[in-house]
Parts: sequence; C-alpha cells; structure tokens
Amino acid sequence: MNNLDNPKIYKKLDPENMLGNIQEFSSQIENCWIEMADFTLPTHYIKHKNILILGMGGSAIGGDLVRSLVQDKVPVPITVHRDYRLPGFVNSDTLIIASSYSGNTEETITAFEQACQKTPKTIVISTGGKLASLSRKYRCPFFKIRYGAQPRAALGYSFTAILKIFQKLKIIEITEDEIKEAILLLTAYNKKLTPELGTGENRAKQIAEKILGRIPIVLGSEILSEVAIRWKTQFNENSKTISFFERLPEANHNFIAGLEVPKDLKEKVIFLILQSHFDYPRNKLRQNLTLQILQQNHFSYESIMIEPAGTSLSEMLRVILLGDYVSYYLAILYRVDPTKIPNVEYLKERLETAFMP
Ligand code: PA5
Repeated sequence: MNNLDNPKIYKKLDPENMLGNIQEFSSQIENCWIEMADFTLPTHYIKHKNILILGMGGSAIGGDLVRSLVQDKVPVPITVHRDYRLPGFVNSDTLIIASSYSGNTEETITAFEQACQKTPKTIVISTGGKLASLSRKYRCPFFKIRYGAQPRAALGYSFTAILKIFQKLKIIEITEDEIKEAILLLTAYNKKLTPELGTGENRAKQIAEKILGRIPIVLGSEILSEVAIRWKTQFNENSKTISFFERLPEANHNFIAGLEVPKDLKEKVIFLILQSHFDYPRNKLRQNLTLQILQQNHFSYESIMIEPAGTSLSEMLRVILLGDYVSYYLAILYRVDPTKIPNVEYLKERLETAFMP
C-alpha cells in the first residue's frame, strides 16, 4: 500500500499536477469573482420566467451546485440539462446558460444551437471552442475561462461564473462579505487537507484509507445532494473507481430496502453520509436513522459534517474540497494517475470520427 505521508509519491503518480488544481479551488473562485466584475449582460435578460443551464459532466455540476444552493430563494425554476434535445418549455422567456469548459461538447453545442432559435437570452461560459464561435454568431455574452486544467478541476470557475451571473441579473442577493468569508474559510480548510499534513491529522487521507478496496456510496440531502454527485464523479474520474450517490429523503423510500443481499455486500461498499448544518430538521433525523440502519446491518460508513458551519455557500464549498482531496488520495492509494480519463477520451474521439446521419 502507498504511504500518503511520503511526499515523493505525489510527483510520481500525479505528473499533471491535479493536486495543484485542487489546492487552487479557493483562488479559482476568487479570481473568477473578480474577473466577472466587468462582465456585462443586456438589461432585458433580467426578465425571464425560467432558467436552463446546459452542460455535461464537470461543466454541468457547477450549475447543479448553484441551483441547489439558491433554489429555495429564487422565484423561477432552474433546470440543469444534460442532453442533445431541449426540453419543450424553452421559449423566449427562458434564460439559457451554456457551460462547457472545452466549448466542444456535442450535447451542449446541439442543445445551445436549438436554444438560440427559441430565446434571445443566452450566455456562454467556456475556454473557447465551438461554443465561443457560436456565441459570436448569435451575439450572446461570452465569459471566457482563463484557467488551464481538466474541466472538473476548473469547478471554481464554472460554479462562480454562474453564481455571479445570478447576482448580476438580480436572481439572488449575495454580498461581497459572503464571498470573502467563504474564500477565507475554504483557504483555511485547504491547509488541513494538503499532503504535508500527516494522516493522523488529515481527514481527507483518513477517509481515503477507509474507502480503499470498497465502493463508495455517497448520500446527501438538500444543498449537499449535488455535492454527493460531485464526490461520486470525482471518485469515477480522479480515483478511477466505481461509485454511486443517493439523495435523502428519497433514499429512505427505496434504497435502504436493498441492503440485504448479496450477503457479501457489506465487505464491498462504504457509505459516506454528507451532513449539512442547514438541512431541514426532519432530513437531519432521517440521516441519523439511516446511519443507525447501516450500523445495525454492520456496514462501513463515515459521516461527514464540516465545522464551523459558516454560510451555506461556505459549507458547500468546503464539503466539495474535502471530496476532491479524498478522491485524489484514493487515486494515489490505487496508484492511478488522477488526471487522465482514458475511457472518456476514447469515447469522445470515437464520437468525433463516427458517421453522423
Ligand atoms: O470531467 C470531465 O472531463 C468531463 O466530465 C467533462 O466535463 C465533460 O465531458 C464535458 O466536457 P466539457 O466540460 O469540456 O464541456
């Protein structure tokens, strides 16, 4: 087994420096917030009846996270859409945000081109690519991400850009102090998770070691339900391991019934329960009862709650950071390169050269 406290293994197993991107999460947010200050949007964008965020994978999750953070305060429905065909409700009252790190993701491009025929309120977020060209063609505002990384490792940008757009369009109120506090707490938390800190004091290393050899199943509710997806996808892409997520309270109505067979399931999985200070009290109770069921059935689990709570934004960002580190350390323990995703790359290459009817 690898020793996570041996500094030499990181350079060897992480030649493209995924660790650096994880460590820069708070500075990505800070820089994006500053860069977006000059980003102007047409005034008619303020009038919309629904919001549709287009994206896939590492570029879609920023939209999910923002949606779950603000949806109980926003008067219009927000949908994150991951497919080629647009939903039928899209019309001239829909605000569209297309987010693709590369700007070349075919599902996002296809849906965006349809959207441009239906609504004059469109925005593009990407580093460039075809989506940037389309933004010029359709004369829609384009925020260029200036950060070189894997799409999932630029989450500080794809998340913050949407948050800032929402603030600019008065969809949400968010103060400079709230952002500052979130960045401060995130920066401080980062210091507790870096490789220099030994396993004895490093929660991320401890969780990764506990997961090793097991399939992580991540449970979250409300603002942490989409963070559970982020943990799951980071396990897939960084650690190259299978992982699943479940949302509470829904999981209490079906998922927990499925813990009986096969009998050796207990040896194969580990449950990670993400708990928020901001959860609805009945959801907190459900989390604790779910933990009890797991204990009674002798399953491995880890319950995760970040202190101090701070604001919901700040709590969410720290749970994301913890998950990113856990997935990174798990990659190191499995001796896999946390950056490369050969299966995803292979599939994209094949799709590009495939015949299109
Ligand atoms: O993490 C990844 O690399 C993927 O999930 C990508 O984000 C996904 O394939 C979409 O690509 P892009 O983010 O460039 O639109």
